[in-house]
Amino acid sequence: MGLLITGGRIITATDDERADIYCQGEAITRIEAGIDSSTLPPGTEVIDATDKYVFPGFIDPHVHVHLPFMGTNAKDDWTTASQAALAGGTTTLIEMICPGPTDEPRAAFEEWYAQAQDKAACDFTFHMSAVRFDELAQSQLRDIAIDCGVPSFKVFLAYKGALDLPDEHLFGLLTMAKKLGVIVTAHCENAELIDAMQKRLLSEGKTGPEWHEPSRPPAVEAEGVHHLATFAELTGAHIYTVHTSCMDAVDAALAARARGVNVWIEAVAPHLVLDKSYAEQPDFEGAKYVMSPPLRKKWHQRYLWNHIRSRAISTIGTDHAPFDFAAQKTMGRDAFTKIPNGIPSVSERIDLLHTFGVLTGKIDLHTLVDACSTQAARIFGLYPRKGTIRVGADADLVIYDPNHTRKLSVKDSLSAVDYNAYEGWEVTGRSEVVTVRGVIQAREGAFVGEQSRGQLLKREPTHF
Ligand code: URP
Ligand code: ZN
Ligand code: ZN
Repeated sequence: MGLLITGGRIITATDDERADIYCQGEAITRIEAGIDSSTLPPGTEVIDATDKYVFPGFIDPHVHVHLPFMGTNAKDDWTTASQAALAGGTTTLIEMICPGPTDEPRAAFEEWYAQAQDKAACDFTFHMSAVRFDELAQSQLRDIAIDCGVPSFKVFLAYKGALDLPDEHLFGLLTMAKKLGVIVTAHCENAELIDAMQKRLLSEGKTGPEWHEPSRPPAVEAEGVHHLATFAELTGAHIYTVHTSCMDAVDAALAARARGVNVWIEAVAPHLVLDKSYAEQPDFEGAKYVMSPPLRKKWHQRYLWNHIRSRAISTIGTDHAPFDFAAQKTMGRDAFTKIPNGIPSVSERIDLLHTFGVLTGKIDLHTLVDACSTQAARIFGLYPRKGTIRVGADADLVIYDPNHTRKLSVKDSLSAVDYNAYEGWEVTGRSEVVTVRGVIQAREGAFVGEQSRGQLLKREPTHF
């Protein structure tokens, strides 16, 4: 069945055009002013988008859905996470595969794919974490990148003893990535420094969530970025710093870029709208706001926004990592080091950025689209199938009402987690209709579509 969207303002990373869009099957087949619906096949659904924006489906380049981590499991599954994503206008999720240090990469890939396969209501792909780099792991990582169509790796410089990769293996991984044309995404915080700082703070009786940030200050993240960039400089590998939270880390990446390192920078929504005072709330409320890298002093936000506006920061994801407050965050009541790290935001990202980025004049609509869709598609080999609106692209579209206002609340959320980090915040803007390859999957914040519509998007390496 066809779908005709009339009268909307089509906003891409570069253009702002009023035209109708006709989708036949899974793709966009016509973009013209005044398409006459009487000339279209019977059964074509017509959606009036007058006074609305039409955006390309948003891509979240950094989410966790299936996540065994810090002695527990993240709360969403692919049913709840993909529905929540769609309700908020996100039509493609890129999930981090995070195996344990002794797991075989191939088994981990199968495990993560099995979780998504029949449940994902939106399209998806993965970044494959390298937590070991022996001969078996090397050959399996290669197969996953090339044969399975997942040409992006993930490394953790943080999480000592759980996920972190030693330098010798980091060098090997980046050398291999360069050869294969695979980009390496990285969590850049120095694991040893964090470990030492955590031990020092706990020994001083500083156990509450407010001590999470002091245990991993900006210098720890900046060191991580510089460390990774040095390895990239010597191997030629292309790198991408995930959830870059502060001026110091951005500056380290930009300094590397100025030396010729191919580095892309990701920000995530929590760091742009929340600050460290949230993690300092009394009665353990602050635990809801423990993530890594941590929420920073408020002034860092302006620095991040300015670099998004200049497009020095390429993407804005979420790092959606949902752990319940009641039974999971409380695992760290006696020690902040045991609070499962993560702030869920997969549904709220676009409305937060529209409200606090676009409507406050920090970024324009094109930058919103660029950072939340187009750049992720370009960097991770999905463009132009995803990330823009053009004839031949997948019909992943978001009809967005820029004037709708509401208060965010856990009671309206499709995510399974038991709190909303933005509870009671008023936002302006809402995804009214969301399509995945031509099928309407969400309307007015509700999931209305086919649960297993999502497909694994096979990608080719492009980072040689
Ligand atoms: O706090 C976070 N970011 N939790 C998820 C795991 C990670 O480091 O991305
Ligand atoms: Zn991380
Ligand atoms: Zn993450």
